[in-house]
Amino acid sequence: MCGIVGFTGARAAAPVLLGGLERLEYRGYDSAGIAVLHGGAIRVEKVSGRIAKLREKTGDGALTPGSAGIGHTRWATHGAPTDLNAHPHLSNDGRFAVVHNGIIENYLELRRELIKDGYVFQSETDTETIVHLLEKYYDGDIKTAVMKTAARLEGSYALGIVCTDTPDALYVVREASPLILGVGVGENYFASDVTALVSHTKNVIYLEDGEFAKLTPDSIMVCDCAGRELKKPISRVTWSVEAAEKGGYEHFMLKEIMEQPAAVKAALAPRIHEGRVQLDGFELSADELRGVGKIIITACGSAYYAGCSGRYAIERLCRVPVQVELASELRYSDPMVDEHTLVLVISQSGETADTIAALKECKARGAKVIGIVNVVGSTIAKLADHVLYTFAGPEIAVATTKGYTTQLTVLYLFALYLAEKLGRIDADSYAALVKELQHLPRKIQQTIDMNWQLPKLASRYSSRSLFFIGRNTDYAVALEGALKMKEISYLHAESYAAGELKHGTIALIEENQPVIAVCCNEALMDKTLSNIVEVKARGAKVKIVSQADDVIFIPRAETVFSAALAVVPLQLLAYYAAKEKGCDIDKPKNLAKSVTVE
Ligand code: AGP
Repeated sequence: MCGIVGFTGARAAAPVLLGGLERLEYRGYDSAGIAVLHGGAIRVEKVSGRIAKLREKTGDGALTPGSAGIGHTRWATHGAPTDLNAHPHLSNDGRFAVVHNGIIENYLELRRELIKDGYVFQSETDTETIVHLLEKYYDGDIKTAVMKTAARLEGSYALGIVCTDTPDALYVVREASPLILGVGVGENYFASDVTALVSHTKNVIYLEDGEFAKLTPDSIMVCDCAGRELKKPISRVTWSVEAAEKGGYEHFMLKEIMEQPAAVKAALAPRIHEGRVQLDGFELSADELRGVGKIIITACGSAYYAGCSGRYAIERLCRVPVQVELASELRYSDPMVDEHTLVLVISQSGETADTIAALKECKARGAKVIGIVNVVGSTIAKLADHVLYTFAGPEIAVATTKGYTTQLTVLYLFALYLAEKLGRIDADSYAALVKELQHLPRKIQQTIDMNWQLPKLASRYSSRSLFFIGRNTDYAVALEGALKMKEISYLHAESYAAGELKHGTIALIEENQPVIAVCCNEALMDKTLSNIVEVKARGAKVKIVSQADDVIFIPRAETVFSAALAVVPLQLLAYYAAKEKGCDIDKPKNLAKSVTVE
């Protein structure tokens, strides 16, 4: 979703801002803009559409001189993606410019008040209220104006502000929206995402909710919402610049699919010692273990589907009931959660608004929350009682791939850890499963290597609607396979529990209907095969993803871990189908990488 960047230093700001915005493109956006301080004024340039257009308009930044500025990519919420609604927004007196990530929930009330006060609005956005409030509260002291403004805002925000009275300074403040300061030498930065910073500096400061900061080329001052100055630690980002680049692949998505063996290895390696699973200093006390009467897994989208696979692993190995809940539903469901519930919250970005809300709801009811998160320092990582990082590295393509398989990996590790702690697994099975888990990276690589025929298979689907079927763990994979296909190729794809087809959906099966059957669960193979026969009898063309019309093979694996292999050909199938159709694979229409609104 929206992205913000800011730069102050001795060199030209606009090229740095444009480069930073390009690094945030993957989050999804539909307009972009920059504001640069120069000669006592603020110059704003904004466009609807892509950053390439903004580059053209600003002569790659050369036409927008100045060494301090802010930039924004907007994913439209309030008002269409037009030039006028694009950020930055200017105050009526031209003194302030603002970029904003998040949503101001009370903006209508503020807008009415500001119009009454005589302020003139140029856009339909919630953000514009902020810049007029700054003008209203400004009496020469910017910090106070920002604090007073922030106190009036309800909702979520990460704000970047410049003011003509302080031509080399940037101001930021956050509430429920990520904001990271980049610490450079003779120059400083801010961004909503570290990927915009890593090419400049790996030294960062993570701002917390309610914190305000002033950045000049040589200083960073952070204070809390009461205005007290804080000493914030500087953290080191471990992601490399190369990790956030395509590295010779045509798309980030393909690169990230290919990175899965390494990513899964990175999630496993530090957690298996001498044949035992150890979870980053994580220990459930005997009391907590006794208290694990029920586990709830909550997440959105693919992370939810990872939870669906994880449920089978945890229930099978630990014999503890697991409920998997969509975060957007759980948050409003008056959930049956208490201090005896262990909640696993899964999120690649760690910033998904519904997932954060579900986490807060569960915590408020006394549950212990474990976050399974990729982005270090993200909101979910901070709110959870304990974090298990997935170590996938930066995931840029909107469609998650290595984010999902590393979530599965951490869930498998967790299942083994808990099964042992609860004494629900015998030593031999435990040892065998740990070993099997260690083979996953190699087997994912084999899955990629042995499926060179997928581009050809995908080309047959690029104009069709598709069904994905499976049972049990295979059904969980089918759900993720169908989502991948939908989000990047825009093909209509539905997933069904294979046994459910005959209860209604089979009516849709007709001659040549492509059906992708995930068939990796050996114990249920015969059952799924019966369902395949049923659809074939009605004219369907069936592709099977299986260990065993077209068969896509994966290496033989323990059923409980097979989702991490079976999903790989489905990711590739979706990728090649989207490529065949000429889709914008890394930035599918209407989608954002990190969904920070409800
Ligand atoms: C997956 O390909 C999606 N783009 C989406 O479903 C995603 O998994 C979901 O929005 C959750 O994101 P998170 O893992 O960052 O919380």
